[in-house]
Amino acid sequence: MSEKRPDLPNRQSPFSEAFKEFIATDWAPYDSELPTALPATGHTPARRNAISAQFPGDRLVIPAGGLKVRSNDTDFRYRPHSAFAHLTGLGTDREPDAVLVLEPVDTDDTPSGGHRATLYFKPRAPRTDEEFYANARYGEMWVGQRESLAEMAALTDLEVAPIDQLADDLAKDVDSTRVRIVRGADEALTARLDALRTEHEVTVDEALDDALTVALSELRLRKDAFEVEQMRLACEKTAEGFAAVAADLPEAVRRGRGERWVEGVFGLYARHAGNAVGYDTIAASGDHANTLHWIRNDGELREGDLLLLDAGVELDTLYTADVTRTLPVSGTFSDAQRKVYDAVLEAQEAAMAVCRPGVAFADVHKAAITVIANRLHEWGLLPVTPDVSLDKETGGHHRRWMVHGTSHHLGIDVHDCAQARTEHYREGTLEEGMIITVEPGIYFKSTDLLVPDELRGIGVRIEDDILITADGYENLSASLPRTADEVEAWLAPLLHDQQSGGSDR
Ligand code: GLY
Ligand code: MN
Repeated sequence: MSEKRPDLPNRQSPFSEAFKEFIATDWAPYDSELPTALPATGHTPARRNAISAQFPGDRLVIPAGGLKVRSNDTDFRYRPHSAFAHLTGLGTDREPDAVLVLEPVDTDDTPSGGHRATLYFKPRAPRTDEEFYANARYGEMWVGQRESLAEMAALTDLEVAPIDQLADDLAKDVDSTRVRIVRGADEALTARLDALRTEHEVTVDEALDDALTVALSELRLRKDAFEVEQMRLACEKTAEGFAAVAADLPEAVRRGRGERWVEGVFGLYARHAGNAVGYDTIAASGDHANTLHWIRNDGELREGDLLLLDAGVELDTLYTADVTRTLPVSGTFSDAQRKVYDAVLEAQEAAMAVCRPGVAFADVHKAAITVIANRLHEWGLLPVTPDVSLDKETGGHHRRWMVHGTSHHLGIDVHDCAQARTEHYREGTLEEGMIITVEPGIYFKSTDLLVPDELRGIGVRIEDDILITADGYENLSASLPRTADEVEAWLAPLLHDQQSGGSDR
């Protein structure tokens, strides 16, 4: 359920009876043609079947979640819970307060195997209803036309029902049917379901609910063909955003507060190509690159510095890329910057080289961090040998300069599958269809007294999105340059066009 927003009687004048009568008249009928199905619709039954098979006999409740208040009477832009989006195919802006219920059935003769899937949502109100003109959150005059029941059914190929029917349907057989809900998706609905269960003397066992959340997260560890294509497209659109940023580097320097300019240019491309950015853009110049999640982005871009840009386009289907490039603002790396850059690149190549089915997820990190530890040792920074540092129990000294992991799963969430069990994630094995990032870095803070002067303030990360294939991997973000030479060659014409009068801003 959506969070409450304050009523504002001081701002909206009451509607007269004459207005109410008048506003309901003389509108063209709604289009009788039903919309075409959402692009993911052909793929969602298999996903629902996979979950159904894991919880025979249980009622499964997967809410989209409600609108969240940003401040006062304005909401954050809406984004559905990822598990809901994955099982319904509903993406951008859809569908606040909706709930997918998989109801157990005795027969196999249903679209979801052992469950019948119903999407409960708030269909559009008729124009005779006050919602049409007076409801700033849901009304057609305020937020646009919503779907009818038939239209939503056509979009999703699901059975649908009005959300007003959900309470009664959830109450049915609640004492004899085990119900599981994704607790974090809609806290108000979860509280109502807990109250209902308690009222019927059914113990609320959060662990049973959480097993559903875990299963839904693990369901996304391997991507289906549609998801792989979406990720390919998200990477392609992300590369376009990176190129636009690169071409505007001189403008970002000239304007001041260049990190914000970079964030804005990438955001424009993300918003235009898809839903938005998949996470807050990290536009970190100079020493800011040494703050791993620098999203304040209020710094200058200075000639001679590096810009670490970590950004991803999230498509309308909500699949997001997650790519990092570290770019010399003036087009060429200094010797010191190149030395750090090359070490990170070597670590990334070593990590990518081990990516294939059957390899431990942890081995990708191990390959990267072994290179990092060795280079740090060569540069005289490690107080111990690389072997001692790489010993998990007694070492870890190298982590001072790369405190994060090398990889995470990626998909409909930037940190996808975050509720998967450790044995399937950090201690898991790579399988065909998985998509992970490979993103080593070296971070030398300007305040780090162990680091020689010429390296202080240099931070480098290189991040690509890697699809595990039957016999190896495919780098989905390979269209962006990776080696220092490639980066310089890629920047040269972009910066040259700008410097020779490409921008008239
Ligand atoms: N791109 C941000 C992160 O992976 O945490
Ligand atoms: Mn990442």
